[in-house]
Amino acid sequence: MTDQTTSTAQPDIALTTASGIPVADNQNSLSAGVRGPLLLQDFHLIEKLQHFNRERIPERVVHAKGSGAYGTFTVTHDITTHTKAKLFAAVGKVTETFVRFSTVGGEKGSADTERDPRGFAIRFYTEDGNWDLVGNNTPMFFIKDPIKFPDFVHTQKRDPQTNLKSAQMMWDFWSKAPESLHQVTMLFSDRGTPDGYRHMDGFGSHTFSLINDGGDLVWVKWHLKTKQGIKNLNAEEAGRLAGTDPDHAQRDLFNAIAQGHFPKWDVSVQLMTAEQAVAWEQNTGWNPFDLTKVWPYADFPRVPVGVLELNKNPDNYHQHVEQAAFSPANVVPGMGYSPDKMLQGRLFAYHDAQLYRVGTNHQHLDVNRPRCPVSNQQRDGQMASHNGSSARNYATVKASGSAPVGLGHGEAGWHLDGAAGRFDERGASDDFTQAGNLYRVMKPDAQDRLTSNIAGAMKDVTADVKAVQIGHFTKADPAYGAAVAQKLAALGAADAEAAKALSVVKEA
Ligand code: HEM
Repeated sequence: MTDQTTSTAQPDIALTTASGIPVADNQNSLSAGVRGPLLLQDFHLIEKLQHFNRERIPERVVHAKGSGAYGTFTVTHDITTHTKAKLFAAVGKVTETFVRFSTVGGEKGSADTERDPRGFAIRFYTEDGNWDLVGNNTPMFFIKDPIKFPDFVHTQKRDPQTNLKSAQMMWDFWSKAPESLHQVTMLFSDRGTPDGYRHMDGFGSHTFSLINDGGDLVWVKWHLKTKQGIKNLNAEEAGRLAGTDPDHAQRDLFNAIAQGHFPKWDVSVQLMTAEQAVAWEQNTGWNPFDLTKVWPYADFPRVPVGVLELNKNPDNYHQHVEQAAFSPANVVPGMGYSPDKMLQGRLFAYHDAQLYRVGTNHQHLDVNRPRCPVSNQQRDGQMASHNGSSARNYATVKASGSAPVGLGHGEAGWHLDGAAGRFDERGASDDFTQAGNLYRVMKPDAQDRLTSNIAGAMKDVTADVKAVQIGHFTKADPAYGAAVAQKLAALGAADAEAAKALSVVKEA
């Protein structure tokens, strides 16, 4: 593919200050004599230096490195029996979208090819406001309680003293959070290093809900299947590209769209009624709202919904991609949340992060502004470019009050029970079977790469952590644990650590 990413020559245009005043000279500061010093009245120089000092906004605390594009979502199948959301109202209906892909742990300048989940955040600009499906390229996640998220992310970032990434921190955390095993297995498989963003699937991951005209609710998981086919990099190639072309995925996406090769994904849903949710949990022991688990396709087949296409590169990266502010809290009437604890935590986290990262009025910016009318009583604050004009800035309260129905848009309320409390599910829930299923579904050569990748990443961690983690692999599948332990030994961790790890396998 030819590289379209270098700017073509542009015609000279007259330079102005940010206030539009023609600039007399952009090469020579105004100085007192040839040798200076400079004069304070050179406002152009001062404005230029001041703005430069303020060019950076904080990078996202996670998912800092990313690429984005605009596109469309087209409905191909009727799901109006399940949802009254207007974007699904008719087959053929088209909704404008914006998508941002990302890696998770690396900083803004890090390599696109690092082993990491990939973010797959989609905004649908619907007539009822923005729906943001802020998912990943994996259907599950490392943890199931948001209280662990900041600690987990710290283990993926840098050691506080050395400022280095630390395998010890990562495996220490994972070994003590066995619910992570399913996602760890996915991460160290071939899917942990996708070849760019076009060749990977996407998942809403959480359980959400759909609500129809009658107020009936069904639980839903969203899926996006790449029409380009899955393509992954092997560990060596990913490492090589990290050095030679760290922006590999950005370049690939930009070039493909610039050349008219618009990437597409088939969008589908898995559905589970409230009754099925109860029965499934009784039969399998798995909580349908546990983000570390999946709903097997055999039990809950995917129902086709539509096609997502990306067809327009943003004309300015910072304006559209860096300032994009997605939030899982943004769902539109006809959709809702679920009791998934991780989702509940995320409902708070994103808007809060963006108030800090982008600003009070981040929803006024091009990429974030809904394409439908906005009417509320929020006013003022920095950068208020859509400030409600002359509309009333307070809400009236009718004497009779308002009459919300169900959770608000006509959907029935949830039935909840149980005492309030803090519940440690480690040991009580089965964190191993689904991880084992994922291992068993891989072909032998893929299993071999998985266990080699893990052994390579674990070889320098301490013996206690190795032993516990190998115990987890073994519980998922004895062959999985044995392969990791043997490869650790072969890698020269052929010392007391490996011996201890192997003895754990034998005992299991
Ligand atoms: C409780 C758990 C989580 C918390 C507290 C959390 C928090 C955050 C925060 C604060 C950001 C930066 C937002 C911004 O500055 O714009 C972010 C970005 C992101 N998160 Fe999460 N996150 C969590 C779990 C997840 C999960 C489970 C997924 C996927 C299923 C996910 C996917 C993403 C994506 C894709 C982005 C980047 C969005 C973009 O491209 O702008 N996060 N997360």
